[in-house]
Amino acid sequence: MPLSVILPTYNESQNITKMIDSIEEALLPRNAPAEIIIVDDNSPDGTAEIAAKHATRFDSQEKFIHLRVVRRTSKQGLSSAILAGVYEAKGEVVVVMDSDLSHPAHTIPRMLEEIMQSKCDIVVASRYIQGGAISGWPFKRKLLSKSATKIAKYSLGIKIKDPMSGFFAFRKHIIHGIKFDSIGYKMLLEMLVKVRGARIKEIPYTFTNRRAGTSKVDSKVMFDYMRAVWRLYRYGRSAPSERRTSVRFLSKAGRFYTVGASGLLVNYIVSFILGALFPGIWYLHATVVGIMFSITSNFILNKLWTFEDRDFTGRKTLLQYGLFAGFSAFGALVQVGLVYVLVEKGGISYPLALILAVAAASIGNFLLNKKWTFKEKVWS
Ligand code: GDD
Ligand code: MN
Repeated sequence: MPLSVILPTYNESQNITKMIDSIEEALLPRNAPAEIIIVDDNSPDGTAEIAAKHATRFDSQEKFIHLRVVRRTSKQGLSSAILAGVYEAKGEVVVVMDSDLSHPAHTIPRMLEEIMQSKCDIVVASRYIQGGAISGWPFKRKLLSKSATKIAKYSLGIKIKDPMSGFFAFRKHIIHGIKFDSIGYKMLLEMLVKVRGARIKEIPYTFTNRRAGTSKVDSKVMFDYMRAVWRLYRYGRSAPSERRTSVRFLSKAGRFYTVGASGLLVNYIVSFILGALFPGIWYLHATVVGIMFSITSNFILNKLWTFEDRDFTGRKTLLQYGLFAGFSAFGALVQVGLVYVLVEKGGISYPLALILAVAAASIGNFLLNKKWTFKEKVWS
């Protein structure tokens, strides 16, 4: 299995060669093709040059580990550097890690093993599960990281313990077709929100604070984080098709019932107004007109709101209206029949029988209209 390791660098001249060597050492026993891709944002300390020089070593040595340096012209942020690396990557599996020796390269084989053995799509090296740890971070930094993690957990519904990890591996094909915002540091978080149905696993590791160079996390990175979370939050809400099927199904059923309840109200109000306008009107006539009004308002609301169908082409809409009215009439018949059977044969009290019958008829109505009137899959 070809592998790509992505190393984003900004001013890591004191770390980069050690970093490359440690990865090489970790990958050699695999005896399989791998590439290391360094994405440097024109570091003023000459990281790219040092890395490129170190790369020549690889030409003569192990043929199956290659090293490439991608140079960008300016500092554009960590996520965007990782993404640039991913676009260059030829491997089926991609590993992303920091290049300041905070992430131990000897964890990589364990991550790959999880991908292969447990058939995972994403493996996250985690500081926050049993066995994981952070070494050398001051209290303030720990607090910041924990808070950011909690924010992701509660606002985005992230289940894993360390979504802020900068150390993770994934099968490249799972991000096919996904558009990344790539603001700030949060590539993994964005992946966790946008990739649906991925099998994810966390394995523990110890994060060791850098010995050389300085962290690039500053107030801009924190601000970018809040911006990224906000965008991802809106992404989750504005893309119902990305939600879980059960949630989508229930939310549609909820809308359908709300519309149904509004129909009852329309029915009563119309019948009442008719009675007031034409004092001599036969009450059954008033009821029939009321029902017609409520079926019409129910239809329009369900079309626009419940099923979000904005196509009002004449023929199609008429056909939908006919089906909807037909199902409503059918539902009413079922309801009457059920009440009769439940009371007469089932010995159930009338109020309870009515509730059961209304529930059954409206569930049936919802499903029939979903499938036939608005042409959606029933479970979708
Ligand atoms: N190319 C490029 N461009 N690389 C960058 C940039 C950038 O704009 N900003 C940072 N990097 C590189 C650094 O050179 C380093 O290799 C890696 O990204 C991580 O940056 P650090 O500045 O060392 O981050 P940190 O150690 O403070 O933060 C760690 O913890 C965070 C979660 O709490 C990292 O592991 C982060 O990835 C993680 O999100
Ligand atoms: Mn670091």
